[in-house]
Amino acid sequence: MVRLTSFDIKNMKKSDKKISMLTAYDYSLASIFDEAKIDILLIGDSIGQAVYGAPNTLEVTLETIIRHSQAVARAVKKHSMIIADMPFLSYGLTIDETVANAGRLMTEGHAEAVKLEGASETRVKEIMAMVDIGIPVQGHIGLLPQSANKLGGYKVQGKKSSFYPAEELLDAAIRLEDAGCFSIILEAIPHEVAENITETMKIPTIGIGAGPCCDGQVLVCYDMLGFSDNHKPKFVKQYANVRKVILDAVKQYSKEVKNGTYPSLEYSYER
Ligand code: KIV
Repeated sequence: MVRLTSFDIKNMKKSDKKISMLTAYDYSLASIFDEAKIDILLIGDSIGQAVYGAPNTLEVTLETIIRHSQAVARAVKKHSMIIADMPFLSYGLTIDETVANAGRLMTEGHAEAVKLEGASETRVKEIMAMVDIGIPVQGHIGLLPQSANKLGGYKVQGKKSSFYPAEELLDAAIRLEDAGCFSIILEAIPHEVAENITETMKIPTIGIGAGPCCDGQVLVCYDMLGFSDNHKPKFVKQYANVRKVILDAVKQYSKEVKNGTYPSLEYSYER
């Protein structure tokens, strides 16, 4: 079995192959996603909300992403490549610190690429330094969850009234491609804007709430599996109701423990 690399992902656009991507935070789900041949597993900072119940992504640390990336890396054996998200303030201070932190995600977390948000002049310099030293980088534009306070909340970008209007998003995508990114996440932007960016770029775009014309799609795994009963954004298609499956199973278990039907002798050792 040959696992994908950032080089393969970049080339998938040329050969017109759509890219599938999911977040993954732990060994068990990552091994299932790898078996299902999901192309990219992202140890996203959405782990803050999904796994740790935080209100946003801001308190996620580099150590948290490293720890979960290790678990995902142990699980992935057949197909998927692994990208680790750079948490808030693990970049954006000095270029040296950014490169060192990205390096830790690779050397300690066993990630094969990193992702970070934004396309400012500072970000472009950081990306160039990382790519120069051999770290593949995935960009991320549109709705930037780490900048939600600046953007006025979790709002669709690329509209006339947005913090980042459509023209600025196209410029940002071009800056990221020129800086050496191998792909770009487009989050929560109108599908026409995403289509225009996708047609302009040589590197693949991977959309989350960016419509059907992107070169690939990513979703938070807990959302698409139906783990929680929280409100879901419009773009999330729920492919399973795992919450109900688990709820029914643990209710049944509890009932059987309490009425003494579990464990029967079938589940017991003999002398
Ligand atoms: O952390 C995350 O889950 C992400 C995806 C939304 C792309 O960055």
